[in-house]
Amino acid sequence: MENGMCKGELEQWNFTPNKELLKSSENSVRSFLHMLISNLPNPIHNLTQDEGESTRPVIPLGHGDPSNFPCFRTTPVAEDCLIDSIRSAKYNCYPPCTGMLPARKAVANYLSTDLPYELTAEDVFLSNGCTQAVEIMMAVLASPGANVLLPCPAYPLYEGRAICSGIEARYFHLLPENGWEVDLDNVEAIADSNTVAMLLANPANPCGNVFSYEHLSKVKLSFSF
Ligand SMILES: Cc1ncc(COP(=O)(O)O)c(C=O)c1O
Repeated sequence: MENGMCKGELEQWNFTPNKELLKSSENSVRSFLHMLISNLPNPIHNLTQDEGESTRPVIPLGHGDPSNFPCFRTTPVAEDCLIDSIRSAKYNCYPPCTGMLPARKAVANYLSTDLPYELTAEDVFLSNGCTQAVEIMMAVLASPGANVLLPCPAYPLYEGRAICSGIEARYFHLLPENGWEVDLDNVEAIADSNTVAMLLANPANPCGNVFSYEHLSKVKLSFSF
């Protein structure tokens, strides 16, 4: 007897990956980068060693993580704060899933310096990076018939998370000839009363541009219908 079934009756588990999600993540920049790196004759982490005259060094231009390089160090102030917090034994608890109150207060104070209004800790939800934040936002915004506006090209995570939450992903164009600015006419054409969010990653990924304040205020205007 296994799992309530006799041996001869064993059925196959019927787990299959979500095909829509697979489709939305198959063209990520990182997958191509990994494919290229895995085909290099010398692993990138050996670059600092003397590799002989016949080998051309490879300059890794696809690194997103500065900690791979010893010249990028976290400030000692941040390191000391972390060590002091751990040694204080004040934060060994099972914390609230929205983040510890002192941390949320600190984030609210920091962000309020650039805003015309004051944020409070209640306005802050701390997550484990963008991926978790996007999951939470999509789940919160999901309602029957809702759609989100995503840039094309976009980081693939957003479409995948929209699909998981039953939200329709609609794409607006970024214009390469205008430094990857938003095609505002296109945004107006695809937005409707069921649009619950529009994504603008700034600096943008994968295009790497930074939107000017002037352009961002035009985007805001085109979206306030
Ligand atoms: C636009 C964008 N969204 C989300 C993510 C995922 O962020 P995280 O690694 O913090 O989960 C990235 C990571 O590069 C990103 O560039």
